[in-house]
Amino acid sequence: MKDFKELIAKQIAKVSNIDEEKIKENLEVPKDTANGDYAFPCFILAKELKKAPILIATELQAKITEDSSNEDIEEVTAVNGFLNFKINKLKMAEEVVKEFDKKKENYGSGNQNKNIVIDYSSPNIAKPFHVGHLRTTVIGGALYNIYKFLGNNVTGVNHLGDYGTQFGKLIEGYKRWGKEYNIEENPIDELTKIYIRINNLCKEDESVLEECRNNFKKLEDGDPYCKELWEKFRALSLKEFERVYKMLGSKFDSYNGEAFYVDKMQEVIDLLQKSGKLVESEGAKVVELGDDMPPCIIIKSNGSSTYATRDLAAILYRARTYDYDKSIYVTSYEQTLHFKQIFKTATYLGLDEKYIKGLEHVPFGMVLLKTGKISTREGNIIKLEDLLNEAIEKSKEIIEAKNPDLENKDDVAHKVGIGAVIFNDLSNNRIKDEIFDWDIMLNFNGETGPYIQYMCVRTKSVLEKAGYVPELKDVDLSKLDDENSKKLIDILYNFNQTLVAVTEKEEPSILSRYLISLAKEYSSFYNNCHILNDDKSLQDARLYLTYMVKTVLEKGLNLLGIQVPDKM
Ligand code: ARG
Repeated sequence: MKDFKELIAKQIAKVSNIDEEKIKENLEVPKDTANGDYAFPCFILAKELKKAPILIATELQAKITEDSSNEDIEEVTAVNGFLNFKINKLKMAEEVVKEFDKKKENYGSGNQNKNIVIDYSSPNIAKPFHVGHLRTTVIGGALYNIYKFLGNNVTGVNHLGDYGTQFGKLIEGYKRWGKEYNIEENPIDELTKIYIRINNLCKEDESVLEECRNNFKKLEDGDPYCKELWEKFRALSLKEFERVYKMLGSKFDSYNGEAFYVDKMQEVIDLLQKSGKLVESEGAKVVELGDDMPPCIIIKSNGSSTYATRDLAAILYRARTYDYDKSIYVTSYEQTLHFKQIFKTATYLGLDEKYIKGLEHVPFGMVLLKTGKISTREGNIIKLEDLLNEAIEKSKEIIEAKNPDLENKDDVAHKVGIGAVIFNDLSNNRIKDEIFDWDIMLNFNGETGPYIQYMCVRTKSVLEKAGYVPELKDVDLSKLDDENSKKLIDILYNFNQTLVAVTEKEEPSILSRYLISLAKEYSSFYNNCHILNDDKSLQDARLYLTYMVKTVLEKGLNLLGIQVPDKM
């Protein structure tokens, strides 16, 4: 598809003799597109051209208008030191439909062809999958889909927390009271109970704690019974996690968790030793990281490895196995220091510069629950599965009230409930805390998942009512000359660039905002422009536009991890 931004940069470069790249970097898309599709702030050039921005803008405007060779630019104006450009909307529409006709469901995709590793979800075995894990699962999942759609080779890694001294305790508890608990049926709840019980016993009786330590040592040395139990806990936990993954549509290519790296840590230690960076400190082995960070502990004073050591081994492994261009870690902002430390320490492993540059932590804010609205089953840990089920139930009530005759209500409630939770998670900048409020996220008229789903369903029903999708050759684009249609064309044109922006900032909310504006604009179009009417040629053009909007809304939601029902 023609890149209008580049084209404008070329045009400005041509008449100003300024480097095209510099111009392209500074070209903006104005908030209010009534002023134009692109704006260039001329103060950027004031130093180089030794003139006031307002003068530069007027001079360049005159030159560009004179140079009539470019029919893609409909108008250029100079306002307060800015150059404002309006793209010829007919030309833009031609570009959009040509590309759309070629790619259909894949409209917006790309061929970036990079190797991307995304570490996300990564819950801890034998511990509840709570709402805190919702965000990493949802943000990581959206990034996974979007990178893939843009033509990258993506590996989703679930770096399970399946290693640590707590397994020595669990094994001890299971040995003692395993028969009393039905861990096959309800693994996480039961394992949690065992864990609490053995922990209490350890506090009373030092010798029990010693037994637990022994178990952990045995596990590390590959003792068959301890290993068998550990594997059982891991498999049962995963089975329970899979239920949530299925609801959310999450996919992973690897479940190599922390335990996978245990036999790969020695190399990390050797490499750090060789680089001369590993030093003794109060009985521990650490890497000093300068004044602005505490040292990275590689081996604790009791001889055991750390979360960081295993993450360093994972960096080596991922560099070699996936030859990544980018390796992303999606976790809460609470782990920011941890990732700073290991990324710095990784520079001492002798890896190619490319692999260091490619490391990126993608932090996100907390989930704040509006108290009194979410029912908890026991204690104050809210299980994600319960929460998702509650979302489905609540959606069902709303649908039941709105559309009692609807078929497949359960399926629709599932898509709407889960969609609402996912969209709520992705609708603001990820670093902001997320507010969890049922009334807001399930509001069909708000800036919500259900609202976009509803608009997408509307496009479907318009097409169904018409009974056909026109062929492109029958579409006269000059019919789309009202403001709503032009705005829609403009938004559709920006789909691919929006997805690229998501990957540049690792920020799925850019796509969420985009979908909100597309859905809202379609709503105005629907209200202002009669789609089905007596003028067949006008109808065809509007139907084709509807068809494109439907495809992009549905694809955009799918990329976020949200499904769209046929009716709702
Ligand atoms: N298991 C950790 C937690 O639940 C997250 C792991 C993130 N990934 C990593 N490679 N450290 O907090």
